[in-house]
Amino acid sequence: MLQQTSETVDRAVYPSLRDKRVIVTGGGSGIGEGLVEAFVAQGAKVGFIDIDDMASEGVVARLNDADHAPIFRHCDVTDLDALSRTLADLEEMLGGVDILVNNAGNDDRHTIEEVTPDYWAERLNVNLRHQFFAAKAVVPAMKRAGGGAILNFGSISWHLGLPDLVLYQTCKAAIEGLTRSLARDLGRDGIRVNAIVPGNVQTPRQEKWYTPEGEAEIVAGQCLDGRIQPSDVAALVLFLASDDARMCTGHEYWVDAGWR
Ligand SMILES: NC(=O)c1ccc[n+]([C@@H]2O[C@H](COP(=O)([O-])OP(=O)(O)OC[C@H]3O[C@@H](n4cnc5c(N)ncnc54)[C@H](O)[C@@H]3O)[C@@H](O)[C@H]2O)c1
Repeated sequence: MLQQTSETVDRAVYPSLRDKRVIVTGGGSGIGEGLVEAFVAQGAKVGFIDIDDMASEGVVARLNDADHAPIFRHCDVTDLDALSRTLADLEEMLGGVDILVNNAGNDDRHTIEEVTPDYWAERLNVNLRHQFFAAKAVVPAMKRAGGGAILNFGSISWHLGLPDLVLYQTCKAAIEGLTRSLARDLGRDGIRVNAIVPGNVQTPRQEKWYTPEGEAEIVAGQCLDGRIQPSDVAALVLFLASDDARMCTGHEYWVDAGWR
């Protein structure tokens, strides 16, 4: 069988995602943009937040003809008051919330010597804190709807122990603990919580970190040839968000092409 590319693969359609009310954080570019596009293609009602207005407005313009055009709101997830206000606004615009994708993050590099207490707080706020508070904010709406799905973005990085990423990797390790804890506390309300663990995904930002030689090294470490695209990550998220995954909760799901 020929290995499909991200362009040739015939993606699944999930009837249970049609008209679902979805919020994606960091939906303006990279994987988040792929998530917004994928949920919109399923006929879901999508609201997303980001700090990059230009990129986000481009996403809205590109998807404007969809059954439900996505709604963008500017919001910095490190500002918890703004996050709570924006999530409430999107909940009202969408008429509720069924699915939350905690995708926003930032993988700036740093040495141990560069880390100050302020930088520690800033990195944890951009990579970890908002995932809990966004989940907390949407839980009442999900309970009213009789259930929901929360997907938290982790990372392969800490499993591999990559260099110059102590704080990012600390957050990504914590997200797997956060996911299991939320899944336990919310399961009886029909709310499923899972973590997505991507390998190296070919996004514009990742292209900044890796030279072609670096990318070749990643592929050499994978079991599969080829680079992971945002649409490959979105495919896993769609499944876990859909009713097909009704008995999947409290775990980490990998999309890494078998990178070791
Ligand atoms: N790309 C990869 O290879 C990879 C690998 C493992 C995990 N991940 C995780 O996947 C998620 C998405 O990563 P990506 O590669 O698409 O990143 P990206 O940097 O390409 O996109 C992140 C998006 O989040 C937005 N954002 C950043 N800080 C924000 C803030 N404070 N408030 C609101 N929005 C903010 C950015 O503007 C951007 O649109 C992240 O959680 C990341 O840690 C990515």
